[in-house]
Amino acid sequence: MAEITTDVLIIGTGPAGAATAALLSSYGIENMAINRYRWLANTPRAHITNQRTMEVLRDLGRGIEDEAYMFATHQDLMGENIFCESLAGEEIGRMKAWGNHPLSRAEHLMSSPTQMNDLPQTMMEPLLFKTACMRGTQARMSTEYLSHEQDAEGVTTTCLDRLTGQEFTVRSKYLIGADGGKSLVAEHAGLPFEGKMGVGGSMNILFRADLSKYVAHRPSVLYWVMQPGADVGGIGMGLVRMVRPWNEWLIVWGYDINGPEPEVTPEFATDVARQLIGDPELEIELLSANVWTVNNYYATRTAEGRVFCMGDAIHRHPPSNGLGSNTSIQDAFNLAWKLALVLKGQAGTALLDSYDVERAPIAKQIVTRANQSIGETGPIFAALGMAEGVSPAQMQRNLEARSSGTPEAEAQREAIRKAIAFKKYEFDAHGTEMNQRYTSGAVVSDGQIEPAFQLDADLHYQPTTWPGARLPHAWLNHRDSGEDTSTLDLCGHGRFTVLTGLGGEAWAEAAAAVAADLGIELAVHVIGPRQTYVDLSGEWARLSEIRDSGCLLVRPDHHVCWRATELTEAPKADLDRVLRTVLAR
Ligand code: FDA
Repeated sequence: MAEITTDVLIIGTGPAGAATAALLSSYGIENMAINRYRWLANTPRAHITNQRTMEVLRDLGRGIEDEAYMFATHQDLMGENIFCESLAGEEIGRMKAWGNHPLSRAEHLMSSPTQMNDLPQTMMEPLLFKTACMRGTQARMSTEYLSHEQDAEGVTTTCLDRLTGQEFTVRSKYLIGADGGKSLVAEHAGLPFEGKMGVGGSMNILFRADLSKYVAHRPSVLYWVMQPGADVGGIGMGLVRMVRPWNEWLIVWGYDINGPEPEVTPEFATDVARQLIGDPELEIELLSANVWTVNNYYATRTAEGRVFCMGDAIHRHPPSNGLGSNTSIQDAFNLAWKLALVLKGQAGTALLDSYDVERAPIAKQIVTRANQSIGETGPIFAALGMAEGVSPAQMQRNLEARSSGTPEAEAQREAIRKAIAFKKYEFDAHGTEMNQRYTSGAVVSDGQIEPAFQLDADLHYQPTTWPGARLPHAWLNHRDSGEDTSTLDLCGHGRFTVLTGLGGEAWAEAAAAVAADLGIELAVHVIGPRQTYVDLSGEWARLSEIRDSGCLLVRPDHHVCWRATELTEAPKADLDRVLRTVLAR
């Protein structure tokens, strides 16, 4: 058989692989994506889709973003994070989650043109995959990655066609391991990892049942059930997770990782559902059941030569904070433009080194955060008197004690309130989602000092144009139509962008000359009165941190890579110097 060739071979069509394929195809790069199964995710898995991920979808096209909202459950219905004895039973407490507290909502609205939403992986993957294939990705399903070998010019990957049983090879310039939490590509590339796999055991029970009467008045994506003496082999707490409001659900139920892997029979699944929902007569339509392990494991290096890994292949962690698929898609957004520019001959290969420098720390950060969030549920159990080792009967007495009029009960109520409120670090951590700042060879700070976080960096996003940070969002108005346009909308789409204001017209001239010299695309926008985009609200003036004559150079992934606070003496020489540095030219 003749050898198949492509520029980039992507192993896996999950959120990481499908997003990479969609981005590379959008940038005009030949790529092939393979998946060992005949189709995409068959269970919902990740749902929480944060604003940064929606910005990637928006960059792919407003139609893609709109389609995501069409399938997603709206942010308004994600709001209450409920802790209860069962869905039919007593509610213990609640907290507003996922940007639904009015103060948090304001921060969300001010931070991005996009909205957080709840989009099951069964819908996210087809959206990304369809976009990729429509734009040029060559996809091969039922095709399994077996091994790879790289040399100075490229990578030869051996695959198995699972329909014919035949092995074949693909020759590519680059290989991407987006093959999930059991990544063979990462293993074969010899990537080093820290942490531990299998720190906990969990099972997913997916079913249909109309639970409107228990939940519609307190809409949420997560209902945490804390039951003393749960006697179906669990850990005393189960999660009833909305898949579609309010008739499709996923129960997440723990099991002892040190014991044998449980068999999730239909009877067992029905028992767990009845117990957590608190309705012994409940009939469910069981859709699937499977077990999975909780991991605390991340790669300390994410690439080896021409092989780049991303997504769960390099960060493996529990679903807490909803970071799994989000970070995977954001990995793709970081790497795809770099590969595109290198493959087009517009950047030196050293640009690719910045992928590891920028994303490896994030892999560590999110794995640590997600695992820490699990531990931070402990104080709720402690306050309820449900700590490990307490007998179910005593747990029940402790739980009931909170409703008496004694000073001890008042203290207990206070402790419960505090412990629940603290969970905002898991369920409303806007900073964790949005604050990523990069320091690497693909950013030129010229010694400007990173601004310190004024508020808690996990909870609050802090906009800044300091080089390395994501460009802040501000609504501008189109001069003719008056239409709202985000500053982010002016950037991205695979190219660099210069943003300046009145008095900074010299940057536009300089940018055109430098773009021509370097043979790259460089968009320029002068923002101000009588220009195409006008800052009518003054928000951009507040956020830009530069004078009108200054300049922000923004990378294709929306991160600022250089700024001048005002017009410099030699704008062309400055842009030339910076772009040559960033592009490793
Ligand atoms: P992902 O695992 O999605 O995709 C890997 C791809 O590689 C698949 O297409 C697979 O078929 C393919 N592949 C693997 N080996 C291959 C081979 N040898 N050859 C060819 N193809 C191969 N996250 C979250 O944020 N919230 C949540 O609620 C959950 N819940 C959840 C439940 C369960 C049961 C699981 C398994 C996972 C979650 N997650 C989650 C995690 C979330 O699903 C995960 O972070 C993302 O799917 C990661 O996306 P990737 O694209 O990196 O890997």
